Amino acid sequence: MAKARTFYYCRECGYQSSSWLGKCPSCGKWNTFDEEVVERETSVAAAKKKGSSQGSAPKLIHQVTYSETQRMPTHCAEFDRVLGGGVVPGSLLLIGGEPGIGKSTLLLQTALSITDRKVLYVSGEESEEQIKMRADRVTANGQYSTQSSQMYVVSETSMERIFEHIVNVEPDLLIVDSIQTVSTESIESSSGSISQIRECTTQFQRYAKESGVPVLLVGHITKDGTLAGPKVMEHIVDAVLQFEGDRNYGFRILRSLKNRFGSTAEIGIFEMRGSGLCEVSNPSELLLAHRDEQLSGAAVAATLEGVRPMFIEVQSLVSTAVYGTPQRNANGFDMRRMNMLLAVLEKRCGFKLGAKDVFLNIAGGLRVNDPAMDLAVGCSILSSNVDLPIPPRYCFAAELGLSGEVRPVSRVEQRIGEADRLGFEKIFVSKYDAKQIDSSRYKIKIVAVSVIEEAFRELFA
Ligand code: TYD
Ligand code: MG
Repeated sequence: MAKARTFYYCRECGYQSSSWLGKCPSCGKWNTFDEEVVERETSVAAAKKKGSSQGSAPKLIHQVTYSETQRMPTHCAEFDRVLGGGVVPGSLLLIGGEPGIGKSTLLLQTALSITDRKVLYVSGEESEEQIKMRADRVTANGQYSTQSSQMYVVSETSMERIFEHIVNVEPDLLIVDSIQTVSTESIESSSGSISQIRECTTQFQRYAKESGVPVLLVGHITKDGTLAGPKVMEHIVDAVLQFEGDRNYGFRILRSLKNRFGSTAEIGIFEMRGSGLCEVSNPSELLLAHRDEQLSGAAVAATLEGVRPMFIEVQSLVSTAVYGTPQRNANGFDMRRMNMLLAVLEKRCGFKLGAKDVFLNIAGGLRVNDPAMDLAVGCSILSSNVDLPIPPRYCFAAELGLSGEVRPVSRVEQRIGEADRLGFEKIFVSKYDAKQIDSSRYKIKIVAVSVIEEAFRELFA
């Protein structure tokens, strides 16, 4: 008989300790330890004593057979793209995101659009009336309807009763909004605690694996951007999707952080409108829609999000500093990176940016972490500084180094191809990237630069 032992786990990061601690040595949070009873670990000696085991025996790899899994399409192209072509039967998915970003809306729309299968939507956060009201709103434009859908809703937080509903409804897809609100009676701690979350997730996983019904879980995100509590959950689930965006703007990006059944390089792009989330299949064109006037300080960056090209407008405003210390502000771009770029521009292009206020904004409220943004950011700042516009059909794709050198970026051909398709006249890339490109294949003119000064001369001289 295995001896039961007690361990203490940090609610925030899952750190394990044999005694209670006030402060977690791993994440530094205070008063986050919960007690948990754990069976003593198994060992080879224990297995020998026990003799023959039940369960499946290890097989040679060539003896393992599997049937081609049929994915269940969600009828939402962007969602399917991120999942790798639909939901895999028996998989457990976690969708994280800040409050109010649109997780519930996304899953509600997904549930409504599946008409050929039964979906059970369990909400621990909203009542059935609230869900219906929202469903009426998102179906107002006639894309889906609450009449034709086979969606069952229930407001429930107890695991035991959720499983009763599952037995009654026999759904083909289960959605739980959110994992932090459900709790099981087998564990005494309150809902949202790490042991509850882990136990409930494990129970859903077991259900998914045994029944083949895919389960979508919603998880909350803490202020610092990590999934609240359940680092442990990330290991249990098959895929972790993150829904993100600036709440003040319409655009939302669905990213996959982990996916056992597909690539994590794919992203889904949505726009939140009055009537719910709309899929955005051509982000570049949408973000560049209103670019007719020539204004100084605007430059287009040919960025890639995962494998998807996104053309984004960078806007800057450089003006004489009114106060002693110049002001710097960046929206959607890393401030430290901007300060570094400013230092490079000051050193290499001879601008007295130290006496100027610099404001930077990425259009659409998007946050893109592609180093290929650098050249567009630099040129946009220079353009605002000299107050000369960059022609609207020019775009940029290169990284800037500390000495002002223009460095190569990943997948430059894809960026050039997309720029060509969108009808750009010139794309500025690094000399090293341009070398390997056959420019005769494109209508677009490829401008190869090796240092930032060259780009500046080409644009404004
Ligand atoms: P919600 O799905 O409740 O977010 P989460 O579940 O991630 O907390 O999204 C709520 C926000 O979305 C809310 O602030 C209003 C906005 N919204 C719209 O703009 N249009 C709509 O049609 C709906 C349903 C929501
Ligand atoms: Mg919600």
